[in-house]
Amino acid sequence: KKENWIAPSILSADFAQLGQDVKDVLNAGADVVHFDVMDNHYVPNLTIGPLVCESLANYMSREGLEAPIDVHLMVKPVDRIIPDFANAGASYITFHPEASEHIDRSLQLIRDSGCKSGLVFNPATPLDYLDYVMDKIDMILIMSVNPGFGGQSFIPTALRKLKEARQRIDESGYDIRLEIDGGVKVDNIAEVAAAGCDTFVSGSGIFGKANPNDPNRFDTVIQQM
Ligand code: DX5
Ligand code: ZN
Repeated sequence: KKENWIAPSILSADFAQLGQDVKDVLNAGADVVHFDVMDNHYVPNLTIGPLVCESLANYMSREGLEAPIDVHLMVKPVDRIIPDFANAGASYITFHPEASEHIDRSLQLIRDSGCKSGLVFNPATPLDYLDYVMDKIDMILIMSVNPGFGGQSFIPTALRKLKEARQRIDESGYDIRLEIDGGVKVDNIAEVAAAGCDTFVSGSGIFGKANPNDPNRFDTVIQQM
């Protein structure tokens, strides 16, 4: 198992001051910026694209903030947006296998674009999609909510899927991160870690705690995670 990473989801940030919010969570100890891309087609919500990714990547390098940008694509089709995110400074690009006509090709395209690749599993999607592509992925993302919105509650069967994914990773011998996304908070993160997870996305659990007078402000929360 790899070093634990906390990945705040900017879906719950204040987009009117996105750079500052990202700076704050990274200075508070977060390791990754989780970047949720929704297209109002594959999921019923609309968020941000390569333009915002590029602005954020430029801001981060100006400010000397070094952290991977973890782009979670909830879009269909997948392929034509991959090079745009690679050029916009993405480090990881993950997508939902149901959204791609040719999963192997999409994974290859991500790596050929110079990024790390991964597959995302919805709560009811089996891990079978991994069977023939373990050598082509750098990350497995297990959804513990149905994709589309922040602030939903954790679906407990994700724990069993994490354990199964952990076993697949260990048996494969490949260098693959195991990430969870949805409903992760200070109070359930230990259980998620025990199931074999090493990369923890949290949106409302972190950015919902931005009030400077709150004793459980996000810096404290990140520390506790
Ligand atoms: C949901 C997104 C998540 C979301 C998580 O579709 O993929 O990254 O922001 O938010 P919380 O942590 O609030 O469940
Ligand atoms: Zn996400």
